Amino acid sequence: MNTVMEKMRATVFRGVNDIRVEEVARPRPGVGEAVIRVTLTTICGTDLHIVRGEYPVKPGLIIGHEPVGVVEQQGAGVTGYEIGDRVLVGAITPCGQCHACLSGHLSQCGHGQGYEAIGGWRFGNTINGAQAEYLLVPSAQANMASIPDGLTDEQVVLLSDIASTGFGGAESGGIRIGDSVVVFAQGSIGLCATAGAKLMGAALIIAVDGYENRLAMARRMGADVVLDYRQVDVVAEVKRVTGGGADVSIEALGTQQTFENALRSLRPGGTLSSLGVYSGKLQIPYDALAAGLGDNQIVTTLCPGGKERMRRLMEVVRSHRVDFTPLLTHTVSIDEITEGYRIFGGQLDGVLKVAVKP
Ligand SMILES: NC(=O)c1ccc[n+]([C@@H]2O[C@H](COP(=O)([O-])OP(=O)(O)OC[C@H]3O[C@@H](n4cnc5c(N)ncnc54)[C@H](O)[C@@H]3O)[C@@H](O)[C@H]2O)c1
Ligand SMILES: [Zn+2]
Ligand SMILES: [Zn+2]
Repeated sequence: MNTVMEKMRATVFRGVNDIRVEEVARPRPGVGEAVIRVTLTTICGTDLHIVRGEYPVKPGLIIGHEPVGVVEQQGAGVTGYEIGDRVLVGAITPCGQCHACLSGHLSQCGHGQGYEAIGGWRFGNTINGAQAEYLLVPSAQANMASIPDGLTDEQVVLLSDIASTGFGGAESGGIRIGDSVVVFAQGSIGLCATAGAKLMGAALIIAVDGYENRLAMARRMGADVVLDYRQVDVVAEVKRVTGGGADVSIEALGTQQTFENALRSLRPGGTLSSLGVYSGKLQIPYDALAAGLGDNQIVTTLCPGGKERMRRLMEVVRSHRVDFTPLLTHTVSIDEITEGYRIFGGQLDGVLKVAVKP
């Protein structure tokens, strides 16, 4: 193999507000690992937190965590795949062998040992990520999900993270057929939570945001009522529309205000399902929790990953239960990725998600 072949283009985090597309060494798979040639990926809100220095990662790291690609090389011990197979890999890559994984908490994977908080999230966090021409997939056997014939890269790329997370919020909320559900924020995560609430059988879905295009998309994803938090008293409106409070509220932004509104919008005994990433101090007001006696539940979810999760989500798309391709509003090449970050970060030009074709 010549040296030219061993290089690749990749998006490297160099420091706060400093990402560069660089020529770097191409990864090689070790035992249990595989290398995929990335054919499509995207930029996540969490990547913005990283670039802005709000979530620390090591300078020199390749970022991005939403890969679709083809198997290029496999290490020893990876079976059941052929070179050239199209695969979707979750943003979260559990080892499938530790206490956390074997207890069903794949996102809190301890990498062969016990539990590690957020341990399942490795791409673009603790190991090199997907905004590159090639990607090393750890625990490849547990994480490469073969893409069924007939599904395009665009149809599956958002399943890796935002759809798995949004659906996870609806599932963790324990939505039951006939429930009323309110979803706070209709960014990409909230939109997927809205779609998830619909799939779970909610009879009334209320979506909250401040952007008209996002509220319009929320309707497309299944919302029955949309509320502009800039225009109305959201909590009062949710109580009115639901006749006393929602069965389940989903928080998909990560601020004190939306967390509190999500709690205050519940009926007694309701469940708050939290997806947002918080910083600083998060406080729970005693009155909204009925002094701790309101029989409420508060649950949190990190994006579920692993190949079985990806397989299920692809079945949802394949059976036409949901279509997330309208969320891909922009497409850039790897060399244009900083422009993609500018548009996505500035919420310019009606952007929802930016597809990146390495
Ligand atoms: N739990 C997980 O596994 C996981 C995975 C990925 C991202 N996240 C987190 O989810 C959150 C949302 O991510 P995203 O990419 O969808 O964000 P985003 O920036 O795309 O969307 C945020 C939305 O919130 C709306 N908003 C702002 N203030 C509001 C308010 N007061 N009430 C209602 N809506 C309001 C904005 O108009 C915008 O549409 C972030 O905290 C992100 O870090 C969590
Ligand atoms: Zn993400
Ligand atoms: Zn594990």
